[in-house]
Amino acid sequence: MALTCWEKLALVALGAIGLRILLRLTVFIWKKLIAPGLGRGIDVATQGKWAVVTGATDGLGKAYAQALAAKGLDIVLVSRSLVKLEAVAKELRTTYGVETRVLEADLTEGPPVYAKIAKLIEGLEVGVLVNNAGMSYDHPEIFTNITEETITNILQLNVAATTGIARAVLPGMMERRKGVIINISSTAAAIPSPYLAVYAASKAFVDKLSADLAVEAAPRNVTVQCVLPGPVATKMSKIKKASWMAPTPEKFVDTCLKTVGIESRTTGYPPHCLIIGIINGLRCICERGTIWLVSRTMLNIRGKALKKKKLDEKTSEQVITDLPSRRENPVE
Ligand SMILES: NC(=O)c1ccc[n+]([C@@H]2O[C@H](COP(=O)([O-])OP(=O)(O)OC[C@H]3O[C@@H](n4cnc5c(N)ncnc54)[C@H](OP(=O)(O)O)[C@@H]3O)[C@@H](O)[C@H]2O)c1
Repeated sequence: MALTCWEKLALVALGAIGLRILLRLTVFIWKKLIAPGLGRGIDVATQGKWAVVTGATDGLGKAYAQALAAKGLDIVLVSRSLVKLEAVAKELRTTYGVETRVLEADLTEGPPVYAKIAKLIEGLEVGVLVNNAGMSYDHPEIFTNITEETITNILQLNVAATTGIARAVLPGMMERRKGVIINISSTAAAIPSPYLAVYAASKAFVDKLSADLAVEAAPRNVTVQCVLPGPVATKMSKIKKASWMAPTPEKFVDTCLKTVGIESRTTGYPPHCLIIGIINGLRCICERGTIWLVSRTMLNIRGKALKKKKLDEKTSEQVITDLPSRRENPVE
């Protein structure tokens, strides 16, 4: 049976669409599963002797510091608590036999702190920067209920410090024509995130900054990667028990480091790309319905967090009022 002209055109169009889908699927599977598994990424240990990790005393930052030290890199650790910094630095020196330097600094304090970092790394061959320190709200909240102080701190840490520290470290990498900058964003940057508006917007800045910096730095052989994690079991997320969807920071970083040089923008941990994929897929089908669903989920989390806060306050009030009577009756 002879095909009409329109049928032939439709067949060609269908074939082209099919081929494009197949090509994209192949690239997706290669980048997400095969290439990292085959170790086709950049070996970060070849980029320089030192790594700088911000927010290195807890969660993802600590896991990055441990993973990089395990690869033989000396580590510069930055965070606000000297006690925690020294404890982690000691652990890295004794476990992995690497050198460490620590900087006790509040990264919300702006340019003077970036200058301190620049001074501390003077003369060091910094091959890796993990721009990790970040902060969010305590729980999802309506924008107008967020204090000015919280907004300023989020912007200073997530936006200004990420930019300022990259500015302090990148020139040396460009001069040596090697290096890797890993900027930690969030899935919140890539999906609708009502009730986390300032945090999500700050992480969208990190995403955009990384994409454009990656292009600028590539001719000098410097790789810039943006990581958009979903939930990871850390202090910030308040997730105590790790699961398939919310891994431990160590598991997350182990998977994520294998993607350096393969993906310039990644969730880092394959199950987390489901979050972005499903939400944005649903948006294609029904934008309003998806936003409603996300909003309901956020408001539910907010409601539970506020309930818990109230209960905690009541319990501590109870303890305070109970104290004098306990002192009066020490035997009890
Ligand atoms: N955990 C998640 O589910 C998740 C999801 C998406 C994105 N992220 C992103 O991943 C990054 C790490 O989060 P995390 O969950 O690992 O957080 P975390 O466990 O709370 O650790 C935060 C680290 O940053 C340091 N830090 C906090 N504020 C600082 C400041 N003002 N100046 C210097 N250091 C500071 C903390 O040390 P000190 O308190 O001693 O200063 C700590 O070492 C953040 O950028 C976050 O937005 C996390």
